[in-house]
Amino acid sequence: MAGPASDQVASVDAPGSGAADGLPWHVWPLGSRLNEAGRIEVGGCDLVELAREFGTPAYVYAEDDIRTRARAFLDAFRARRERFEVVYASKAFPCTAAYELLAAEGLSCDVASGGELHLALRGGFDPSRIYMHGNNKSEAEIAYAVESGVGHIVADSFDELERLERIAPGQRILLRVTPGIKPSTHSYIQTGQIDSKFGFSVEEVPRAIESIRNLELRGLHAHIGSQIFELEPYEKLVEVLARLGDYPLLNLGGGLGIAYTREDEPPSIDEYVDTLVRGAPEHVTVLCEPGRALVGNAGVTIYSVGTVKEIPGVRTYVAVDGGMSDNLRPMLYGSRYEAEIASRPGGADVCTIAGMHCESGDILVRDVGLDSPRPGDILAIPATGAYGHAMANNYNAVPRPPVIFCKDGDARVVVRRETYEDLTRRDV
Ligand code: LLP
Repeated sequence: MAGPASDQVASVDAPGSGAADGLPWHVWPLGSRLNEAGRIEVGGCDLVELAREFGTPAYVYAEDDIRTRARAFLDAFRARRERFEVVYASKAFPCTAAYELLAAEGLSCDVASGGELHLALRGGFDPSRIYMHGNNKSEAEIAYAVESGVGHIVADSFDELERLERIAPGQRILLRVTPGIKPSTHSYIQTGQIDSKFGFSVEEVPRAIESIRNLELRGLHAHIGSQIFELEPYEKLVEVLARLGDYPLLNLGGGLGIAYTREDEPPSIDEYVDTLVRGAPEHVTVLCEPGRALVGNAGVTIYSVGTVKEIPGVRTYVAVDGGMSDNLRPMLYGSRYEAEIASRPGGADVCTIAGMHCESGDILVRDVGLDSPRPGDILAIPATGAYGHAMANNYNAVPRPPVIFCKDGDARVVVRRETYEDLTRRDV
């Protein structure tokens, strides 16, 4: 089909049903389609049937989508150079089954806390291929990393360098650099600018390097932000880091954006990787740390519609059984999404999808076209695979949804739904 999906992932194409139905398929998991019953299918599974079997809300992933994108990253590098590593930024979807899948695909792993390290090890990542991040790692987290044999710790500050010398002598490290680059994205997820809590400024790097006594400095790291559609900031980043010295590893962070709405056209994985490697000398191992670009479009969230409230001349609220507890992004960043009724996709009745939480701001999607929504409908919001499950919470004591992996028509629960009992499990 034409459109972003075909260049999003070089070798794969989106849905069988083609673009004739007018649905923005490039936002949906690869392989999604309308089945014979006219319902949306993800990973070969009918979303209405999944809702019936596993309940709602639920995070539904097309396993093959994640694999395909992982392979697209690896292939894009392989086609261009010998030395590279693709590092899964696991904060995007810290789920044991995802760690397992991406370890099996041959990726390395980025963890940003002791908890993510625990999950990465459980998921089978070789500790030597783990990179540990964080602007304020505790002594206990550093000790855990050392005991586990974590390959590289990314040092973030002078205080931390001192701590590493003490707790992790001989440890291989990277230095996190704040390169002074500000891509256009939401300010909360810009990280490369001077005014940042992360890393060493370019001016501080020589002093940081000089201070190192008993650590093995293997290279530099920078992450300029997230959900980025421009490639120029990455070109600039390679230049800035190259000027700071010649090291075996050059880690350029993550940040490649994805399509959330029909208008979004992010660069392809291939174009992105091309930009990263172009300015890097051949003897250097180039690393990148995609999170969202690996898992974001692989996941959709399914909900049940409970009430439809029409305020004549004002707005129609379609309320679902989840909201800011399973997807904080609209509330936090004003993020926009598409939405469809799984059994009657398309439609032009302009509606606002409201969550069930006790806040007027708990709106998942504003002004989206649906086909006369009614109680009992299954509503699906695509592109919720990254930072959805990851940032889920128990606001209003709402149990968190399960994670369901779908492949070739088979569905398996990889994280079960939370229960009311779970909500009291930590009480003392
Ligand atoms: N590497 C480092 C050091 C990072 O801090 C991050 C994301 C990544 C890689 C992966 O970035 P990605 O490829 O996923 O853009 N909660 C926000 C996103 C926060 C990203 C934090 N760091 C959101 O929902 O948009």
